[in-house]
Amino acid sequence: MCGIIGYISYLVEKDRKTIIDTLLNGLARLEYRGYDSAGLAIDGDKKNEVFAFKEVGKVAKLRQLIAESDIDLTKVFDSHVGIAHTRWATHGQPSKLNCHPHRSDPKWEFAVVHNGIITNYKELKLLLESKGFKFETETDTECIAKLCKYIYDQHPDIDFTVLAKSVIKELQGAFGLLLKSVHYPHECIAARKGSPLVIGVKTQKKMKVDFVDVEYSEDGAPLPAETASQTLALKRTSASLGSGLLSPPDKSLLHRSQSRAFFSDEGQPMPAEFFLSSDASAIVEHTKKVLYLEDDDIAHIHDGALNIHRLNKNEGTSNVRTIQTLELELQEIMKGKFEHFMQKEIFEQPESVVNTMRGRLDVENKTVTLGGLKQYISTIRRCRRLIFIACGTSYHSCMAVRGAFEELVDIPIAVELASDFLDRQAPVFRDDTCVFVSQSGETADSLLALRYCLDRGALTVGIVNVVGSSISLLTHCGVHINAGPEIGVASTKAYTSQFVAMIMFALSLSEDRASKQQRREDIINGLGKVSEQFKHILQLDKPIREMCHKLFKGQKSILLLGRGHQFSTALEGALKIKEISYLHCEAVMSGELKHGVLALVDESLPIIMILTRDNIFSKSLNAYQQVIARGGRPIVICNEGDQEFPNEKTERIEVPKTVDVLQGLLNVIPLQLIAYWLAVEEGLNVDFPRNLAKSVTVE
Ligand code: F6R
Repeated sequence: MCGIIGYISYLVEKDRKTIIDTLLNGLARLEYRGYDSAGLAIDGDKKNEVFAFKEVGKVAKLRQLIAESDIDLTKVFDSHVGIAHTRWATHGQPSKLNCHPHRSDPKWEFAVVHNGIITNYKELKLLLESKGFKFETETDTECIAKLCKYIYDQHPDIDFTVLAKSVIKELQGAFGLLLKSVHYPHECIAARKGSPLVIGVKTQKKMKVDFVDVEYSEDGAPLPAETASQTLALKRTSASLGSGLLSPPDKSLLHRSQSRAFFSDEGQPMPAEFFLSSDASAIVEHTKKVLYLEDDDIAHIHDGALNIHRLNKNEGTSNVRTIQTLELELQEIMKGKFEHFMQKEIFEQPESVVNTMRGRLDVENKTVTLGGLKQYISTIRRCRRLIFIACGTSYHSCMAVRGAFEELVDIPIAVELASDFLDRQAPVFRDDTCVFVSQSGETADSLLALRYCLDRGALTVGIVNVVGSSISLLTHCGVHINAGPEIGVASTKAYTSQFVAMIMFALSLSEDRASKQQRREDIINGLGKVSEQFKHILQLDKPIREMCHKLFKGQKSILLLGRGHQFSTALEGALKIKEISYLHCEAVMSGELKHGVLALVDESLPIIMILTRDNIFSKSLNAYQQVIARGGRPIVICNEGDQEFPNEKTERIEVPKTVDVLQGLLNVIPLQLIAYWLAVEEGLNVDFPRNLAKSVTVE
């Protein structure tokens, strides 16, 4: 939900065009997070001047707006701070006014871009209005910029970090934010609480990473020898704000401030560029050296150095953030030969599932090793319950593996929608294991449920795609599904990789169960074949496209039927169809058809039935007969060569047969293709469906 990017360069000559292109290209990579408006703020021509551009619609429109403006694109800067944002509206309609960056005042003394939600913005707004501030937008974000100015005006010699801490201490909710100010030229603040922020670092010379542990005495003087970063963090004041609501800037804010900084050997600033973003995909083309901020981190970038401070002193959390090397390759986030990211991601599945299993599944020796769970497997085996918690497609993948867990692992299993789980304040105990499944690792509902379970002392496991995401950081242990970046808003390859990762989890848990060994071997053998079977099914792309054209043109509604392991496949297929083709599609448990939904069935209603063979196949056939008896002509997803479904009565989509608990992996692929081609047929924007965003960081 919303994407932010900041670009800060020190002692590196850049012309304005390059700076703007860096921001715009980053925004374009983040567009999957929100695309109803975009904006940026950069340095102006004169001291204390800011140029801001905002446009409704996609980043391309903002690019056009800037190209048509009369700003001097050739102007060269030694050092520069620019911030930019692509929006998915939560507070206030998509409009130029509500578009970020937001400002403190018409002179843009403070500019902010923000991803997340400020839940107490109304109180802050009231307070600031009572102090004479005039709000121009309907957003929650604007109060951040105005709060900066309010505090600054009373304490004009305040250090940017202390100002930022004072502001952030007042904010409730979730945020990843960047601050830029004319009062702190060439400085930028990045802060995170609940919304992701990654910082990429590029130095001209070989990077020297210097960890500086700064400890401050009571009067704010540094104890160790001064370095450039420490000196800058020292100018401090602590007068009361006297607002009643706001706490005064606190001298203690400076104590035990630790930082990781980049210096030349002489302790002088060195040419460096910093890229701050909600997602590494906006950074990877510039640098692979990144660090991920954690909740309550405040990063202060100034004079070529990066300092990370903690919001609260002495709360026991280290603020050493290791520099990681991104494994992401640029081509992974490009569409390549495909029309859409979703299409590319559907076709990547033969490879992405192999990446999920790589180094973990040994088909020959029938073993599964999940390094991230190793130390916890025996504890999980003894837990009272396994509760799977997720949203949307990730919830469906949990549903898809529930049967396998129930069969292989003798532990009661619950599968919960994160929002409903929280609404009910469901009981959770210390001996429960709660598994959080999320592609992004940032979904607000799942994250809140995770915190709820942590508070109750449960063991938490993350099944996550995005490395460094909040869920992967906050859970005790977990598995990265390694599906690679998923950019299409409709999740496809993450679903199949989550499915595979969780089946491997069930296999690990049942490793010690003698009675399950044959079954485990069958499933392991099945997993070994999935990739080839995917390739085979993807050859159906063209016939499925033709089928969509022939059967669904002009339709308004589709029923999708499945039962047993295939009910979750039906749920997932129906969600895919709804979200990108805007067709109403309802997943129905086949056994429930006769309890009401059958009334809808006639010769004209399009019906897709999942009828691959398993131990409840004969029951699934009942539903098929009921549909045929009412003149329906269903599209049947069945096993190759199955004679049960004659061509005169059905349209057939044939898939290979595999172990029953894995069949859903294969069956979902034709449904993904149907959803894709339905949307393309309608001329819809597959990768950016209306009203949706990839990463839902609001409740
Ligand atoms: C549907 C889709 C969403 C997500 C849901 C959870 O195609 O992508 O339903 O599955 O928003 O997101 P994550 O998995 O990131 O927690």
